[in-house]
Amino acid sequence: DDSKAGVKGLVDSGATSIPAIFLHPPASLPQDPEAVTSTTATIPVIDLAAPREEVVGLVRAAAETAGFFQVVNHGVPGEAMAAMLAAVRRFNEEPAEAKRPYYTRDTTTHKVRFYSNLDLFQSQAASWRDTVFCDMAPELPRPEELPEALRGVMLGYADAARELALWVFELLSESLGLASGHLREMGCGESLKVACNYYPPCPEPHLTLGNTRHTDPTFLTVLLQDAVGGLQVFLDRGGGHRGWADVPHVPGALIINVGDLLQLVSNGRLRSVEHRVLANRNTDTARVSVASFVDVGRSMRLYGPIPQLTSPNGDNRPLYRNVTVEEFIAHFYKKGSEIRPRLDY
Ligand code: SIN
Ligand code: FE2
Repeated sequence: DDSKAGVKGLVDSGATSIPAIFLHPPASLPQDPEAVTSTTATIPVIDLAAPREEVVGLVRAAAETAGFFQVVNHGVPGEAMAAMLAAVRRFNEEPAEAKRPYYTRDTTTHKVRFYSNLDLFQSQAASWRDTVFCDMAPELPRPEELPEALRGVMLGYADAARELALWVFELLSESLGLASGHLREMGCGESLKVACNYYPPCPEPHLTLGNTRHTDPTFLTVLLQDAVGGLQVFLDRGGGHRGWADVPHVPGALIINVGDLLQLVSNGRLRSVEHRVLANRNTDTARVSVASFVDVGRSMRLYGPIPQLTSPNGDNRPLYRNVTVEEFIAHFYKKGSEIRPRLDY
């Protein structure tokens, strides 16, 4: 049926206006009072080939404020990045019949899944986006389980993205004054899930969004975006300098952002910051992004503020209680992606 063809299916059927389910409340739309992009606030671009101490300082400054930074000289081959973006575009631009076998709304399956608006029943409105989601670690799909378009590139890209994440976990550990292996030894990097997003041109982009404001319920996200643009981060630099700032496309760069669970284990030092994606204003080119969610493996292990970063009272008292990742994720989805999960529940 048509719903299984996603938003791209709607566009292909010739829609010139957006169905009511995609209408977002006016306060969520780009013309909201917070829409003024602050000119003084930007997302830093960090050269990972610079001297280690310098890199650690820049990573610390970014992760403690914007919660987002871009990296260059990150070790992920440019060809792997380009091939990944092209493969996602190709999969989504295949006829609906090629995508339908992967369509599911089942979030418990570890199979490759294609869907549009998985959070539909929690969020207030649907978003102008389709997604292919794939678990890549600790268990990998067998090659034949991957859609043909993604088969030759997904494994290589995912490996490289995970390597980069492990490097960033070292830098973040050092930036917190911990041994460089600390976050990795807690299990960070054991799990990798890749969300491939496709944002078709939208006939009424002022009425909807590509993705509503949210924080990532992850430890770390490594994001690859093409040149189209539309990702915005909510920055608050104090003194009234707050608003949505564009995350511009920097050729060759990857975007890194701190997720909720890293905020939790760092006792609030590293910040998981809200972001959103505007609906694609292009008339002919879809936007593609690939978000790699890097986490600890699922287990009964409890995660809470790292003891070395806390003291029983005073400024460093623990801000969050200990949770299992399952418990945290369940809480996140119950709240819906429109609402920032309260880490201190
Ligand atoms: C997301 O934050 O979930 C997607 C970001 C993007 O597509 O740029
Ligand atoms: Fe996100």
